Parts: sequence; structure tokens; C-alpha cells
Amino acid sequence: MAAPLAAAGSGVSKAKSLSRRIDATDTPVIDFTRRVMATRKDAMSLAQGIVYWGPPPVALERLSARMASEPAAVSGYAPNEGLPALRAALRHKLAHSNKLPSAFLNALLALCDVEDRVVLFLPYYFDHLMAMQMTGSADRVVLGECDPATMRPSLEWLKAELAGPQPPKMVVVVNPCNPTGVLLSRDELEGISAACAAAGCWLLLDNTYEDFIFAEANRSLLRSALAPLEPHVVGGEGAIYLWARLPPGCEDDRAVVEWLVAQAGVCVIPGSACGMPGHIRCSYGNLSPDKFPTAVERLRAGIAHLAQHGMTHMGAPPPPPQQQQAAS
Ligand SMILES: Cc1ncc(COP(=O)(O)O)c(C=O)c1O
Repeated sequence: MAAPLAAAGSGVSKAKSLSRRIDATDTPVIDFTRRVMATRKDAMSLAQGIVYWGPPPVALERLSARMASEPAAVSGYAPNEGLPALRAALRHKLAHSNKLPSAFLNALLALCDVEDRVVLFLPYYFDHLMAMQMTGSADRVVLGECDPATMRPSLEWLKAELAGPQPPKMVVVVNPCNPTGVLLSRDELEGISAACAAAGCWLLLDNTYEDFIFAEANRSLLRSALAPLEPHVVGGEGAIYLWARLPPGCEDDRAVVEWLVAQAGVCVIPGSACGMPGHIRCSYGNLSPDKFPTAVERLRAGIAHLAQHGMTHMGAPPPPPQQQQAAS
């Protein structure tokens, strides 16, 4: 990992190493999917959680008006405590919806010491594990159990863990969930919250996807492409994801992703990046409605072939988007 840097003027190179914590941190899975995508020119992505729509026009209008009238306001330093208007807006949001803003790393540093145990439910959001690795506390991660059919966190498991000899200091819940796309109800969250409160344990609720309720047409199309994997498909209730178990024999999910790109021309996230090999996460937010159906058809063909014949040669791939549009 370490990049040798030339010592100034001496002509001698000295290797500088990263901290052991950073060396022991996973390489982001997005790095893997981008490399795999680069192996095929026309590959389409249902992998990275990024949406095709932009910020609301009103936000862009206000931003450009502010930049025109007061350019220094967006390039200077803000008050240390944060912009008064932003702080007021956050106070309002927290008072009305009882949600923590994201910034997991800061919350982890503020609430936990390196020896404190932290629950991440399986499958976890990969950056949460990486934050634990970066702070040198990866071996304090307690992998929480979800119901295998519904992928909802098990309250029974949590209560037993909180009552155990080494209770966790913090429990992390992502809702709606990245990577599963499962949305917990208020009752479920209150059950988790009450269990944590009774045990004196922090509950960190990551609501990053709270407003991601778009692309519903994309969602049902994607779900239909995963039909051969039913009933082992969940999600689409919030966030922008569906989560599915691959057929037997596909435990090496990174190999499956490489195969899907090479054979079907579509990329998804391997579940092993979230601690669950043999699964995939598919996003329905990445591609605009004009491109999305082509990517889904590729996934449909890939998954159908995988379920019947495993990772064997698929034959002619579906045509690239331009050709397909011209044909229809
Ligand atoms: C569950 C979850 N939390 C947080 C984030 C982003 O957090 P940040 O922008 O602070 O890195 C993401 C982004 O994908 C996410 O999926």
C-alpha cells in the first residue's frame, strides 16, 4: 500500500507506511465495482448508491442567487458552531423528527472508546464497518442478527445481547436500510429504542435515506427481474435497494458480479461487502428511466441464466442501449 516518496535533494527513496488501522481497513467495494465495470465498455451499473435525479430546483436557484449576491458567503469560513440558519434548521428537524444527522465517524468518536462494543446488524452498511476499522475497533464489532426471511433486526437477539456479560455501548440501525432496502416501522424502532434505553446503551439511527421515496416504477421493474431468486428477495420499502440471496453455488459473490458484468453487461454490489457472501444489493436509483429498463433486462437475463446454468457462458449479450432504442 505504501507509496515510496523521494527524500528532497537526496535522490534516496524512503517508504512511508500508512497507520496499521488504515492498512487494516477494507478497500471500498465501489473500488471493486468500478474496476469490474471498466472491463466492459458498455457495462451498466445498478451498483453504487447514487441517484440520477439532482437537488430540487428551488435549492439550486437559492444557491446561485446567494453566490451572485454574496460570493464570500460560500467560500469563506463559517462560524465554528456552524451557520446560525443551518443550526436552527437542524434544531427544528431534531425537535420534530427525533433523528440524528449522519456523520457516523464523528458520532462513533464522540460516543465510544476503542474498547467499546458496537452492534452492526448483518448485512451492515460497509462504511460503518470501515469507520470501526479506521478507529482501530474492528474487533469490537458485534454482528447483530436479522430474521433470515425478512432481514429485519431481531429484537430478541438484541435483548439477549444487551443482557449479556459484555453489553454493547452502541447499537447502529440504518432505516430505511442500506443495503437491504427494508423499512422498519415506528413500533419496531420503539422496541429497539426501549431495549437500548433500558440497558443504558446508545442507539445510533442512520436515516440517510429518509427522503428517498422516488423511482417507484424502477423498483417494481427491478423486483421482477429478480423473480428467479424469490422468495429470497427483500427491500424496496425505502432507500433505493433490493437485496437478494443468490442461488446455491454462488457463494463467491464477487465472482458472480464479475460474471454478470462480463456476460450480461450489468453490475451490482456483492453482499460480502456487507458481511453476507452469496447475496447481492441492486440499486434502482442510479439510472434514469430511459436507461434503467436496458440494465434491468440485462440483469433479468443474467439472473435467469445463473439460476438455471450457474456461471457458464451466456451467449450473445443483449444489445447496447443505443441499438436497442433504435430497434424499438
Ligand atoms: C446508510 C448510509 N449512511 C451514510 C451515508 C453517507 O454518509 P456520509 O456522506 O456522511 O459519508 C450513506 C451513503 O451512501 C449511507 O448509505
